[in-house]
Amino acid sequence: MRIGILNSGGDCPGLNAVIHGVVGAADQLGWEVIGFKDGFEGLLPPGDYKVLKPKDTIGIVKLGGTILGTTNKGNFAAKIGKGNVSEVPAEIVAKAKRTLDQLEIRALIIVGGDGSLTTGLQLYREGWPIIGVPKTIDNDLQATAMTFGFDSAVSTVVDALDRLHTTAESHKRVMVLEVMGRHAGWIALWGGIAGGANVILLPEIAFSTDKVAEVIRQRDAQGYHSTLVVVAEGAKLPDGEIVTLNENTGGEVRLGGIGEIVAHRIEKLTGKETRACTLGHLQRGGAPTALDRILGTRFGVMAIKLAEEGRFGRMVSYQAYHVDSVPIEDAVNQLRVVEPDGEMVGAARAIGISLGD
Ligand code: F6P
Repeated sequence: MRIGILNSGGDCPGLNAVIHGVVGAADQLGWEVIGFKDGFEGLLPPGDYKVLKPKDTIGIVKLGGTILGTTNKGNFAAKIGKGNVSEVPAEIVAKAKRTLDQLEIRALIIVGGDGSLTTGLQLYREGWPIIGVPKTIDNDLQATAMTFGFDSAVSTVVDALDRLHTTAESHKRVMVLEVMGRHAGWIALWGGIAGGANVILLPEIAFSTDKVAEVIRQRDAQGYHSTLVVVAEGAKLPDGEIVTLNENTGGEVRLGGIGEIVAHRIEKLTGKETRACTLGHLQRGGAPTALDRILGTRFGVMAIKLAEEGRFGRMVSYQAYHVDSVPIEDAVNQLRVVEPDGEMVGAARAIGISLGD
């Protein structure tokens, strides 16, 4: 039997671990694995792929990125808006199907996030033998307690906060670290708690920079002259707060991301020297942590088990120390965001972290 695998969407530490798991487990069954390059694009005729044998995966578990390449653009990119999902056009699906048929692919494993799995669901409903593997560093997919890549991203945030801590203390400054998380603040919340942040600003909790400034003043009064603020890239200033980075224009000038804006506001309100740092794609690159290597490998192995059992239209899922599966439709089109009244936000508050509200 021959099966296919592709990575789709943004890259993420641990993708190679999934490939490693898939190829290893498939080889045990005597199956051949075809790795399609650059996401779904590799399916388009004449087909851009390579046969993956166990020898091709030696040592890849420790590598960041993906040996197959990936893309979040192209012919298959599902346009996900609020309640607004565009389908892949029928002629593109038909072309890709020809490649699948010619290669006699009996199962196609899609390693992707919400958009890619939504495409996977469309293809499954059109009769393709699809198996999904959840991937997102943001950890915001429904129906899985965790995705690989998240732990690596959080580790990068913690490392950055450890470094910012010493320079903040030396200069008695406020340091604002902007981290990834467009819709959900999991990276900010986990990274902020583990990295000793004093303030964490999330997309899910309305905050004001006046409140943040108040926290910083109080800390100063208590003798803590430096403050670490973590802000998720998707966090929004309340409507009432005008952002004027260029005082001469008098209008709103959005030169930077939310981190720069918050830093600018804090400096203005408190008079304390404040610096912003945007972590960006450093969170996506580099070697996966041990947890992500293991999770990715187990996800790959489970994907092969689903293929062996002929259970298509399902997504591998991590549930309380156990890797299992759920219907893909349970996972897509409704992101898992931080619960403002949840236990984890409560834990942050309990140790004196401000959410800026
Ligand atoms: O969804 C993952 C993510 O890393 C987000 O946290 C971030 O906003 C986005 O992808 C960045 O995408 P790109 O690599 O296309 O700039």
